Amino acid sequence: MAAERILFVDHTGQLGGAELILLDVAAGRTDASVFLFEPGPLSKALAERRLEVVTSKWGEGLARFRRDSSALAALPLLGRLMAIILEIARAARRHDLVYANSQKAFVLAAIARLLVRRPLVWHLHDIISAAHFGRLQRRLQIGLANACAAKVIVPSRAAATAFIDAGGRPDLIEIVPNGLALQPEPCLRSELRAMLGLPTGPLVGVFSRLAPWKGQHVLLQALAKLPDVGCIIVGDALFGEQDYATRLRAMVAELGLGDRVRFLGHRSDVPRLMQAVDVMVHPSIDPEPFGRTLVEAMLVGVPVVATDAGAAPDILERGRAGSLVPSGDAPALARAISAVLAGAEQLQPQLDYAARRARSEYSLARMLDGIGLLINKVQTGAAA
Ligand code: UDP
Ligand code: GLC
Repeated sequence: MAAERILFVDHTGQLGGAELILLDVAAGRTDASVFLFEPGPLSKALAERRLEVVTSKWGEGLARFRRDSSALAALPLLGRLMAIILEIARAARRHDLVYANSQKAFVLAAIARLLVRRPLVWHLHDIISAAHFGRLQRRLQIGLANACAAKVIVPSRAAATAFIDAGGRPDLIEIVPNGLALQPEPCLRSELRAMLGLPTGPLVGVFSRLAPWKGQHVLLQALAKLPDVGCIIVGDALFGEQDYATRLRAMVAELGLGDRVRFLGHRSDVPRLMQAVDVMVHPSIDPEPFGRTLVEAMLVGVPVVATDAGAAPDILERGRAGSLVPSGDAPALARAISAVLAGAEQLQPQLDYAARRARSEYSLARMLDGIGLLINKVQTGAAA
């Protein structure tokens, strides 16, 4: 019988999409602990699920260290990184398997493995490409994965292809699509808007953390071409992208959108808020590794317009479950939003199909089964 003591490792205490997945994967594993580089809302959420949390003494602020920083800029951090590696090794000693949930967590856990050898699984939530990682970083990630990962779990074919194209071993990859257990509470769009003080006219929304690659600026450019359309921007800069948040607010003023665009900040009721809008826009300018918000919109029955890159075309079944537009193309995005708003009455069959697809392909149970099987396989292989 395979042992069950798993050490989950994540670099951030924030609640990004990858950490929301970690919460679901770790929940219910009573013998598991979670090692975090820093405290934050994630620590609280884990504690609420009765999971033991070990927080590094040295990791605070590392999450905001730019992923593409040069090796030279990273030099002063080396001492702290070494200290975290020792902390991970110490924690790993009490566990049978280490499960790294982010790339920084994976790199440090892989080095810690030199001290305490445990099977290491990497749940890779990123597209490994030059857009997000420096050359050295990519070589380090891939080199370590090829040398010592027992398995690399990715949420989409897009993330798998990027890993392999970057030199990763294809046999390590296991695609387990993200799954959500959302039980939408249906509410009337008009009532919700009245409650939230939102306008009654056409309204679109974007529900992602604020970061340049999430492309909120493309939506603002599109809105400049749609004079009657209002917009809510939900989400905050979680990983140090404050400059971008400031730039977005400046753009709203420059484009004269002040009376049509509202920033609602980070919210914990995204699926409910989504039901207030006529279109959920997903404008990422780099390929999205997965995109939980796509599935959330499908589940609550809101039309989606998304960038045709990364996992979006798979999730939206190449346009059958939502509209796809070229990346970074504001005029095309404006046209697609107009088309959805104009054809709202005919959209119901597409929305029903999207909700069915989200429930069957992207359920939490399916994701947990996939990951559970894989962990058992890794543990059995390690014990053999
Ligand atoms: N989210 C949230 N509050 C916000 C904005 C986003 O809870 O203000 C949630 C959103 O509902 C989704 C997750 O954060 O479940 C983001 O995951 P996604 O995969 O879409 O993107 P990521 O931010 O992980 O790149
Ligand atoms: C990352 C990706 C996002 C994905 C999430 C969970 O944050 O950016 O696309 O949905 O992880 O896998």
